[in-house]
Amino acid sequence: MSHPVIDDLLWRKTTKKYDSSKKVSEQDLAILFEAMRLSPSSINSQPWKFVVIESDEARQRMSKTFSRMHEYNQPHVFESSQFILFAYNPRYNRSDFDKVVAQYIEDGRVKTEDSNKAYGAFVFAENNTDETGDTSCWTRAQTYLALGNSLHTLARLKIDATPIEGIDAELVNKEFEKELDGYYCEVALAIGYHHNDDFNAKLPKSRLNMDEVLLRI
Ligand SMILES: Cc1cc2nc3c(=O)[nH]c(=O)nc-3n(C[C@H](O)[C@H](O)[C@H](O)COP(=O)(O)O)c2cc1C
Repeated sequence: MSHPVIDDLLWRKTTKKYDSSKKVSEQDLAILFEAMRLSPSSINSQPWKFVVIESDEARQRMSKTFSRMHEYNQPHVFESSQFILFAYNPRYNRSDFDKVVAQYIEDGRVKTEDSNKAYGAFVFAENNTDETGDTSCWTRAQTYLALGNSLHTLARLKIDATPIEGIDAELVNKEFEKELDGYYCEVALAIGYHHNDDFNAKLPKSRLNMDEVLLRI
């Protein structure tokens, strides 16, 4: 099948080794960051924070968090162009949704006098909040949508990437506690350009057959 969307998806392969001499241009970064911001989320909650690690100092801090596990992902911290933490709000509440509604009014989507109606959707957040105020199951899922959207955007831009769950969440969240500001990171994304020695770039794409994963009824 040939189509630009399918071509993008076939082109992208998780990078296992980066060429540290190649950096993503500011122009492409701006497109990626805008695509991340434009990602869809349940009730437009946008319960995410993205922390872009690119300075030497931040890379050193990130590198330290691999001291206990997932060392195979550690080289990406220095060799990729950027290493991005995708974090979710573990306690999304009404004051977080206040910002969304205020933005609706600013963007002309909702009239000030109708703001109460916009809060109707918040019941969805309430239904996904446990008795302790924890919304992690729900907000974490939204953050993965931003991750998926980023992966496709990067493929379109012909930028390589590695989605990374292989991080030590405890150490990452401790090290970047100030920047994460109450948000919680369990997944990251390295971006850049693969090295000629990246074995995965040469392997064929492999997925389950369509009839294993899709049913038309
Ligand atoms: C949420 C998520 C977490 C992943 N974590 C890692 C990881 O920690 N390290 C790694 O090398 N690859 C990781 N991968 C890459 C997957 O193994 C890869 O996407 C899958 O094998 C399909 O290959 P492809 O991305 O090349 O199409 C992750 C992928 C996803 C979507």
